[in-house]
Amino acid sequence: MELSRITRQFTESIIRDMTRVALRHPGSINLAQGFPDFPAPEPIKRAAIEAIQNDMNQYAVTWGITPLREGIATTAQRYNGIEADPDKNITVTCGSTEAMMASLKAIINPGDEIIIFEPFYENYGPDCLLSGATPRYIRLRPPDWSFDFEELERLFNHNTKAIVINTPNNPTGKVFSEEELRFIARLCVEHDAIAVTDEIYEHILYDNHRHVSIASFPEMAENSITINSISKTFSLTGWRVGWAIASERITREIRKVHDFLTVGSAAPLQHGAAFALTLEEDYYRWLSEFYLNARDTLYQSLLETDLRPYKPAGAYYIMCECSDFMQRHQSQNSLDLAYYLVKNIGIATVPGSSFYSVPGYGQFQIRFCFCKNPQTLHQAKLYLAKIRKTAGSG
Ligand SMILES: Cc1ncc(COP(=O)(O)O)c(C=O)c1O
Repeated sequence: MELSRITRQFTESIIRDMTRVALRHPGSINLAQGFPDFPAPEPIKRAAIEAIQNDMNQYAVTWGITPLREGIATTAQRYNGIEADPDKNITVTCGSTEAMMASLKAIINPGDEIIIFEPFYENYGPDCLLSGATPRYIRLRPPDWSFDFEELERLFNHNTKAIVINTPNNPTGKVFSEEELRFIARLCVEHDAIAVTDEIYEHILYDNHRHVSIASFPEMAENSITINSISKTFSLTGWRVGWAIASERITREIRKVHDFLTVGSAAPLQHGAAFALTLEEDYYRWLSEFYLNARDTLYQSLLETDLRPYKPAGAYYIMCECSDFMQRHQSQNSLDLAYYLVKNIGIATVPGSSFYSVPGYGQFQIRFCFCKNPQTLHQAKLYLAKIRKTAGSG
């Protein structure tokens, strides 16, 4: 019996596999998968516990409880300049993962193409294939991870239905500039394509970089879907609460897909998420200071090694160029290197190859995450000292 031809086109997630590899190496530090190892905020946890005790334990309204959709509308207006009606423009989903899948399923027809920047968050390729579209890739190039405007313009054609943007970006830490987003918006309007933006790291920014939502441009109101979740902003990756904001017309379709995919996100956790969105400025200030320290600690530790880190402008990952180190250790490719690092240094990372459509593009790169408490990052510094820069090395 032949199983799905679509699922045969992709593998299991390497990121989540590296977490399993870390578990098989006791004492190793997991800087592979992006989840915090410190407690989530107490008042948010209390709000969810109270919701369970108050018996908010049955199915919620499919597209999300009203207080959460209202909170999403308020924060979208405050932080993103997006006007959203909680009843018409917002769908609460099981994390931004489901928001992306439901959004693509809601807009794609056979023959459609989706443009994806690479290196990419590894879900986007499978999301695109599962929705029935053909992915088209454009490279972000180091050191600033910029893209070629003309190359992007050439990629747009009459089959282009969407472009996936992730800003701040995983794995590169790039924050798309307003100029880049305005250029993309112009192409979307010209080709009647939809910008699907994953903005889950919007509050994790460094060195005065500013987050811009493409949906805040008036001409993009009908041509954008903005995806977000509580996973990264509130360190609640296991709760699986996210959302999609879109025009009423698009939202109607997203809600249908969402309903039949999952019915809804966990009801009591939606109450906890609604409380999270009421937190004031000092929470967001704490978050960015915490991650600025974490970034600087890991970046400095990496600078002292033979790996060459790119300093991220946002999100909580550092990509490293490793060709010199790999030559010295005869690593064939980035997967080889990732296994070497977990076995010999005690740190799990993600091989660069898993972020590209052609694995070879990332064969000299590796990604570290730093959403970890200071003690973990201090321990990582000690482990990384084992590969301290040697005299004469790059
Ligand atoms: C860019 C990006 N999008 C989405 C996700 C998954 O988000 P969620 O937990 O909201 O499904 C991740 C997780 O690492 C991510 O890095």
